[in-house]
Amino acid sequence: MKVVKVSTAAAALSDPLSPYWSSAAKERLSMMPTPLAMVDEVSPFLAISNDHGSVEEAEVAALHDGRTLTLRLSWAMPKAADKIDDLDRFVDAAAVIFPLARNASAMTMGAKGQPTNAWYWKAGKPHPYDVIAEGFGSSQRHDGATSSLSARAIHADGRWHVVFQRPLETSRDRVRFVPGKKTGIAFAIWDGRNRERSGRKSFSGEFIPLEIAG
Ligand code: HEM
Repeated sequence: MKVVKVSTAAAALSDPLSPYWSSAAKERLSMMPTPLAMVDEVSPFLAISNDHGSVEEAEVAALHDGRTLTLRLSWAMPKAADKIDDLDRFVDAAAVIFPLARNASAMTMGAKGQPTNAWYWKAGKPHPYDVIAEGFGSSQRHDGATSSLSARAIHADGRWHVVFQRPLETSRDRVRFVPGKKTGIAFAIWDGRNRERSGRKSFSGEFIPLEIAG
């Protein structure tokens, strides 16, 4: 996947319904249910889940202007779930994950000594989380604001449109985007109405290369 270089101001792109997005180059993502048998060791209960992963397709566009990376994710969801009004209610959510070590795997959300960094948006929350994980069950959430990560989301015409933005570089222990270089990326989407949370979700598979235009 390519992060395209543009001259449009990042502030204009933070609007998920900006007219800019209708003509922007987008990639289609095939999403599938997470293979939860893999998490048996950390959660035998989750490991027997077999009705998760309802979102099968998403669309993504990625841009940078030399300073800020903007990522817009969009997927069909006829009715938004954005409120937790009972114990058995869950909200829609989306995340992108990046490797922080050369051999880190998205399939396991990293491993001890091979960390990953995820940006995690949850419907109804004003700020995204900036998560560091070294394998399932090790996720450490941080407020996105601490690494200048922001997200804006709109549900319109039966779709969620979520825009993440972050400066190309923040602190040393977060993913860095260097123009002309590559990193990796993978995606996850949770359907709240299908009781999706934590490992119960759709995901895009192993990391794919993410090329930052120079
Ligand atoms: C490749 C794309 C993936 C992304 C973007 C992603 C992202 C996330 C995020 C943001 C969380 C929530 C952390 C929190 O509560 O703060 C999470 C939790 C979890 N994920 Fe993933 N994940 C991915 C793949 C997978 C796969 C393939 C599995 C299982 C085979 C999995 C299993 C889990 C489990 C068990 C949890 C709950 C425990 C924990 O928080 O570590 N994930 N994931």
